[in-house]
Amino acid sequence: MGCQYFQACDHGAGTFTIGLPKLTFGRGCLNEAGVRAAARGMSRIVLFTDPFLKDGPYVAVVQKSLQQAGIDSAIFSEIRIEPDDTSVKNAAEFIAQGNFDGVVSVGGGSVLDTAKAAMVYGLYPADFLDYFPPPLGQGKPIPGPLLPHLACPTTSGTGSECTSMSVIRINDLNTKFVLGNPLLLPDEALVDPACCDSLPANIVASTGFDLLSHAIECYTAKAYTRWATVDDPLKRPFNQGANPWSDLAATRALEIVGEFIERGVNDAGDHEARDQLMWGATLAGMAFGNSGTHLPHALSYGVTHLMRDITTDDYAVESPFIPHGISVIASAPAIFRYTAAGAPERHLEAANSLGANVGDAGHDEAGEVVAGRIIELMEKTAMPNGIGDLGFGEADVKPLAASTIRQGRAIANAPRETNLQDIENIYAAAISYA
Ligand SMILES: [Fe+2]
Repeated sequence: MGCQYFQACDHGAGTFTIGLPKLTFGRGCLNEAGVRAAARGMSRIVLFTDPFLKDGPYVAVVQKSLQQAGIDSAIFSEIRIEPDDTSVKNAAEFIAQGNFDGVVSVGGGSVLDTAKAAMVYGLYPADFLDYFPPPLGQGKPIPGPLLPHLACPTTSGTGSECTSMSVIRINDLNTKFVLGNPLLLPDEALVDPACCDSLPANIVASTGFDLLSHAIECYTAKAYTRWATVDDPLKRPFNQGANPWSDLAATRALEIVGEFIERGVNDAGDHEARDQLMWGATLAGMAFGNSGTHLPHALSYGVTHLMRDITTDDYAVESPFIPHGISVIASAPAIFRYTAAGAPERHLEAANSLGANVGDAGHDEAGEVVAGRIIELMEKTAMPNGIGDLGFGEADVKPLAASTIRQGRAIANAPRETNLQDIENIYAAAISYA
């Protein structure tokens, strides 16, 4: 089935490229930060983290390890959850003035994404939109390499330690946008699942659905052979479409999240489940970091653009705030009901990996099988029942779609052609799954 999906197309790409960091996984591996940073030639680093983690045990372990390896570190923790151009510019200024020879990041996706973008603007100052892709940005190339980066995720969802992208809110435009470039890929990652032991249920749920969506979007994305070939191999984008490597990692990530998300969310003492979710997040990062996501992530940016008067339990963030994973998964069932017609076998295979009872479901039932399984997992983990629970109604459908249509590459990475009207229809169908 996989081979058929990657059948050659006229003028389509015949080649895909996989980028991965050197990766260490396991309880206690944060202790390796010092020797690993030293082995990369780091002697004076900036340690990025957030205000909540700054005085906590994980940062302390990393700092001690760096100290023991003879590495000086300066901490930068003024990082916004869901970073914006202002917070990134402050971080870039810190890098520009510090004469650093390396970066270590300890935190969730917001911290890792800030570290990546701050290096770009700290080393190569420019107007903020210069390095972002059109239609919002100028699409200028990043002029040279970034600093060596050792990334240490503390949540089981982002996968940012394995990706070449950084998601930043552009304040003037009031929307998030993706800065993507192979230069942003961290050189090395330390993934220590002990960091997830103390996470509140809602954070495990939100990040878990982010990982779920990374994996299923990756598996159901348009095949890389259906994207046009590139003239310059060094400009082959990371969001190149589904490919055989990403299939491998995404399939296993779907199996893991299907089996363990309920346990991991509902029982903080279930180390097996939480460790597995951390491994699943890493795998999903390796997968979508080499394929790109599609409609669930594209539509999530409309949701976080237009959200109002909303907070989420367990997140100490000012209103309005919807965690990334929740903004992604809220529309996902309606999206897969739509996209399944473009690649029904892939949707059935993904549903099977996610633990759905696929039975002898036919192609015309593929969307319903995927949607049903996602809704089942959302119900078991007390997630919102569609974007209606996030404060949106019929009157918001057109503005949401108008915001989302700007996410061109992600929309084009869907397995089915999708226009503005289609996106409006999807939002309308995502208001409630009751
Ligand atoms: Fe995500």
